[in-house]
Amino acid sequence: MKSDITTPADVRAALKDGIAQLRRAQVPSYTLAAELLLMHALGRDRAWIYAHPDDAIPDEAAQSYSALIARRAAGEPTQHLTGKQEFWTLEFEVTPDVLIPRPETEHLIEVALDRLGLREVRLGRSQETPGDGLLIADVGTGSGCIVVVLAKELPGARFFATDLSAAALAVARRNAARHSVSDRIHFLESNLLEKLSSVGAQHAAPLRKHASGMRNRESRITSYESRPFDVIVSNPPYIGRREASALPREVREHEPEVALYGGAEGYELYPELIAQAAAKLKPGGLLVLELGHNSLPAVRPLFDGPVWTDVSVTNDLAGIPRVLAAERPVSTLLCT
Ligand SMILES: C[S@@+](CC[C@H](N)C(=O)[O-])C[C@H]1O[C@@H](n2cnc3c(N)ncnc32)[C@H](O)[C@@H]1O
Repeated sequence: MKSDITTPADVRAALKDGIAQLRRAQVPSYTLAAELLLMHALGRDRAWIYAHPDDAIPDEAAQSYSALIARRAAGEPTQHLTGKQEFWTLEFEVTPDVLIPRPETEHLIEVALDRLGLREVRLGRSQETPGDGLLIADVGTGSGCIVVVLAKELPGARFFATDLSAAALAVARRNAARHSVSDRIHFLESNLLEKLSSVGAQHAAPLRKHASGMRNRESRITSYESRPFDVIVSNPPYIGRREASALPREVREHEPEVALYGGAEGYELYPELIAQAAAKLKPGGLLVLELGHNSLPAVRPLFDGPVWTDVSVTNDLAGIPRVLAAERPVSTLLCT
């Protein structure tokens, strides 16, 4: 589609034209989209745009803006055009290989940090460095938004982040480097947590020393080696393929299928993910999952029984059950 903006205009006129075109194309949040695309084409922030309405736009920027407006009107997400999305106040690189980070996912981070804080209080500990000594896994890391934010918030923790998609992992690695947390995150191409089976031995050395004074030493060492994680977080694909036709065009045609669909119904990945997490978490370890808008009835029953305790469900701002958190019991090491 060709845009109407073909000649250099001033900032005000360009913005007005862009908004009008996107509104005609029924683009959601068309004013915001036009602003972001103009900011991107000019290399300026919003404050500059509104402070310079009468400035002429250089030819090159006008052509670039015109092309961006046309692509947005044709359905490409704004974030694919600007190459970025803000999440938890940090800027993340976004490409068509990764899910665009969503605001709902910030609830997952809030729940994980809250539950970790409570756990420290319960254990009577106050850590000088937040996350000290914790080993955390992020399953289906995509852009890396969750693991990078947790690494910023928990500077004492170390992380593993998995994804089926090598292309997504490349973006996640760049985001970790951009936010200076690469040295504490190990990225792995893996189906869920499968490739993390050898992590325990590597991380059990300090624990082996700690365990040497304990009764039942062997089983405790073995348990730590096979269950190395303190926390596992995941925002898995959870949309049902049968819902695909109801998705906005931006999502259906431009975001990766592997990041969107969990199966015909959407919740098909949860049972295996939860079973693998149960086998990899330490006693007292925490699992935090993002849920799809209709996942709860299928997912909540998977936490019934003795394998999990302290199950909580947190709604998002729209009142949809969005985050489920649960812990492995502390009292038994062998409860599977
Ligand atoms: C909903 S996206 C979440 C991305 C990112 N964590 C976020 O919150 O924005 C799900 C991610 O899981 C990955 N994925 C899908 N199936 C997977 C599997 N079986 N094992 C590992 N990762 C998987 C996808 O490639 C995608 O990056």
